[in-house]
Amino acid sequence: MTEPAAPSTPGGFGRARQNDIYRAGVLGRRPRVPTDFATLERRARRKLPARAWAYAAGGAGGGATMRANRAAFDRWAIVPRMLRDVSRRDLGVELFGRRLPAPVLFAPVGAAGLVHPEADVAVARAAAALGVPYVLSSQGCAPMEECAAVMGDAPRWFQLYWSSDDALVDSLLRRAAAIRADAVVVTLDTTMLGWRPMDLNLGSLPFARGQGIAQYTSDARFRDLVRERIAAARASGTKPDVTVTLDAVKALVSMSRRFPGGLLANLRSPEPRAAVETFLDVYSRPSLSWDDLATLRARTDLPVLLKGVLHPDDARRAVDAGVDGIVVSNHGGRQVDGSIAALDALTGIAPAVAGRVKLLLDSGIRSGADVFKALALGADAVTVGRPHLYGLALAGAEGARDAVADIIAEFDLTLGLSGLTSVAEVTKDALQRV
Ligand code: FNR
Repeated sequence: MTEPAAPSTPGGFGRARQNDIYRAGVLGRRPRVPTDFATLERRARRKLPARAWAYAAGGAGGGATMRANRAAFDRWAIVPRMLRDVSRRDLGVELFGRRLPAPVLFAPVGAAGLVHPEADVAVARAAAALGVPYVLSSQGCAPMEECAAVMGDAPRWFQLYWSSDDALVDSLLRRAAAIRADAVVVTLDTTMLGWRPMDLNLGSLPFARGQGIAQYTSDARFRDLVRERIAAARASGTKPDVTVTLDAVKALVSMSRRFPGGLLANLRSPEPRAAVETFLDVYSRPSLSWDDLATLRARTDLPVLLKGVLHPDDARRAVDAGVDGIVVSNHGGRQVDGSIAALDALTGIAPAVAGRVKLLLDSGIRSGADVFKALALGADAVTVGRPHLYGLALAGAEGARDAVADIIAEFDLTLGLSGLTSVAEVTKDALQRV
């Protein structure tokens, strides 16, 4: 297939993308990645090793929250209007001083190296090709500077897990400003990892093998913590508790390969292993509270969004605390089994926030119609997680780009076919609860 048109294509991104696909079809070419989520997911599942699939697709507990996320979208129906001249449509939105070509972002997704070796750098390329932001994850497989380096002036945001080490928080925030991130997204819902049976049943946590800790191992403050840990262990005469099994050796090689520097030197050094241990100790702060958040303004000049808000009272408090935006999200159903669906939470939060800050939604966005429904219920934009990860798994940067381009294209067609021509016109009037 040819390069995709830009989402701001005159005459419409959706039609341009359809035309590209149908024209290539005449020559016998099929789209690089399936254009619907069910097929995309099936193909990704077939391709990925068990551990990668478990981490990418798995949810908390029995998966009730993931199912609820989907069911919530199905409870709303779009009621299209006719004869309204929809020949010219504008998908653009303004977020934090930037005009974006579409109200869709790439969600922060950690440990993407499990599904493709180019991981975050490939996703960064994909987002830059579409001109929509990539929210770089704290759990990335490449330092944020490497991702920014392939993005030119394209927009990027940074997602922060608030470490138990404040100096590390400050260092990550400084780096985010240095790569010219447009905003910082503080994820609140993962002060501890949820109970994820698909990973647990395999005894698999990517970070324990050194995968998804590149923001840390590339950080000067974190490296100091690692050296302090090694020095303290030496001083106390503590030896690492290692039982030598084939899997333990593989894990050591995995850690060493992902640690900065040469593999051989790393295999001889205590640092890669100590880095994993240090990471597991400091990556999150279960005691995180509103008092910590109050210090954020002094820590960064960047716009701040809080991700993982699900209760209207928390949303009101966030607005009162002076944040710039909220991401209504249940982490794609990965944290609390039986949690409220993100879309259902949005219907309570949107009136509580009443336009005072930007509202984003994720968890369960699978199509352009889902984007439409989220905007109609009060979101300013959405972020997309698993669809771009599965596109990455199937076809690298181009696959991640196409998976999100397809969602934007379908949104464009849904907008026009519903009788609307801009994002601002997408309101609850276009929906009916079923
Ligand atoms: C995530 N998510 C996530 N969120 C975050 O703030 N930091 C992170 O590092 C990650 N890592 C991560 C890994 C994987 C494999 C997945 C699937 C998700 C959550 C992500 O940002 C987003 O909230 C959900 O993915 C949205 O739900 P959908 O689109 O996957 O249904």
